[in-house]
Amino acid sequence: MPEIAYVNGGFMPLEKAFISIEDRGFQFADGVYEVVATYGGEPYALAAHFARLDSSLNALDLALDIHAYGLQAKLMEGLALSGFGETMVYIQVTRGVAPRRHEFPVKPVAPTVIMTFKEAHRLPQDMYQHGVEVITTPDLRWKRCDIKSISLLPNILAKQQAAQAGAFEALLIDADGQVTEGSSTSVFCVRSGCIRTAPTGPHILPSITRGVLLELAHRLEIPVAEEFTTLADFKGADEVFLAGTTTEAMPVIKIDGDPIGEGRSGPIAQRLRAAFMQEVGIA
Ligand code: PDD
Repeated sequence: MPEIAYVNGGFMPLEKAFISIEDRGFQFADGVYEVVATYGGEPYALAAHFARLDSSLNALDLALDIHAYGLQAKLMEGLALSGFGETMVYIQVTRGVAPRRHEFPVKPVAPTVIMTFKEAHRLPQDMYQHGVEVITTPDLRWKRCDIKSISLLPNILAKQQAAQAGAFEALLIDADGQVTEGSSTSVFCVRSGCIRTAPTGPHILPSITRGVLLELAHRLEIPVAEEFTTLADFKGADEVFLAGTTTEAMPVIKIDGDPIGEGRSGPIAQRLRAAFMQEVGIA
């Protein structure tokens, strides 16, 4: 099955897809993105992903009406063309191609809209059973982390630190010693039976999986506090877990080498993962 790209109206094999070096996404990271996974071949939580894309576009004054553009129909067409059992769809919209000047192009240009369709390779089951180790690093990001911007330098530097340490993820710690989120995941801890995670706002991405897990916790009658929590309290928590489109719900067993709780995947993370798998139709 071919990996496929969509570029400004046309589908093509991934390796045939190119954009201009004067694209503002390439020059300035002037763009936004989404990552959508399929379950049972259907894009999961597409309405929520499109709502967030819309809000990211609006925040950057990037004039693309994704509904008038027919983005959903094009995404479905790409899924059909690529023909994978399960697909990871990457969507990126930039302000388009214009001579390199920092301000927006005076003569409006069409945004660049690209998508890629790749086979989804889910993480190995034993990772979910055993849990993963994470490190911590200062949160060096800007003050609008709620925008899903393609400008990801602090995130990739943090993830690289994790990779070099042999860890799965880097938790980002703000100037007040509070855990915001992972470099590409949301993060939760469980203290005295209550799930704690940073509140939505400019310091975190409003993660779709975070929203789903909080809704599932509500249904399972597990208390939730959307409040900031310090790294010390994360390290002293009974459980810690990550969430994200590519990560799903992943238990964390060590932070900076310090075991969390009993040093193994905890019951609330397992219950939420089971509920999530049921929600996406895998269980
Ligand atoms: N990352 N926090 C950050 C900083 C992220 O980049 C992501 C997703 C998440 C989880 O969000 P969601 O549940 O909507 O996937 C949280 C994507 C997958 C990526 O950059 O590849």
